[in-house]
Amino acid sequence: MSSRFPFTANPIGWFMVALSDELKPAGVMPLHYFGRELVLFRGQDGVARVLDAHCPHLGAHLGHGGCVVENNITCPFHGWRFDGSGSCVGIPYAKKIPPAAMLRRWSVCERNGMIFVHNAPDESYAPTWDIPTLAEHESPAWTGYTRRRWRVRTNVHEIIENAFDVAHFCSVHGAVRLPESTVTMNGPLFQVRSQTAFDTPVGVLEGDIDIHIFGFGMFTARYRGLLEGIILATLTPIDDEYVDVRLTFTIKRLPDEAATAFVAQQFMEDACRQLEQDIAVWEHKKFLARPLLCEGDGPIGLFRKWARQFYPVATLRARAI
Ligand code: FES
Ligand SMILES: [Fe+2]
Repeated sequence: MSSRFPFTANPIGWFMVALSDELKPAGVMPLHYFGRELVLFRGQDGVARVLDAHCPHLGAHLGHGGCVVENNITCPFHGWRFDGSGSCVGIPYAKKIPPAAMLRRWSVCERNGMIFVHNAPDESYAPTWDIPTLAEHESPAWTGYTRRRWRVRTNVHEIIENAFDVAHFCSVHGAVRLPESTVTMNGPLFQVRSQTAFDTPVGVLEGDIDIHIFGFGMFTARYRGLLEGIILATLTPIDDEYVDVRLTFTIKRLPDEAATAFVAQQFMEDACRQLEQDIAVWEHKKFLARPLLCEGDGPIGLFRKWARQFYPVATLRARAI
């Protein structure tokens, strides 16, 4: 448990660990997320798999020098082979495989050009929900994705909570009035619809924002106003101190290509500017289990109740959130 937060930095749920095109067929990548060492590999069948990284034989890291044969990964040290379930299926110099020759297998799904891992304390926590494919994914009416990435000293909880802290939209991001929001909770999905107005270099812009939050690992923000645009945010705990934050952008194409490119660039830059305004606060703030809230503060309490489903009971300190 992190010393800065009264809950684990690694809640249960789906978290993005790589872009699909970072992992070629038969590719192998070391991963360091959730304070753990993992190995990601793609079998010859195209399926991405994740296992604990350290070989149970003598501890080599499968992500550094391991290679894929068919749909298995071979350890770089003495050649033990593991399948996608984590079972050792072959030892080049032995006929008998020790029964304990197993690695933990992590559930994986690939959606929207991204590879997600289901984080949980152990394998008994099977995923109970799925990451959806965006209706706009690979649509020719929308621009190709552009992306930015940050390593932020915070916790995924703080980042998601920020969407519910409506009062900071004015003081930090330049909104000209508090947004009018409606929230809907449905299991791991939390939807927030807001009407806002932001002061920008080209004047006050009115718009609708529709945010869909899928657990702590991903949310989409759809803007509808002068332009239609989507920000797909993925947040992945690196360890108790840091979060890997990636933003993916697309906008609905305008009739003119040059105008599309210009607007897409402005959309991305404005979102990045707003995120960096938040980062400056997140990296130094303290998490208050009992904040002093007042009228107009937004549904922070509601969010914290929803958040509890992602914390294994054993990791949550009494009255932590
Ligand atoms: S350490 Fe992996 S095969 Fe020996
Ligand atoms: Fe913010």
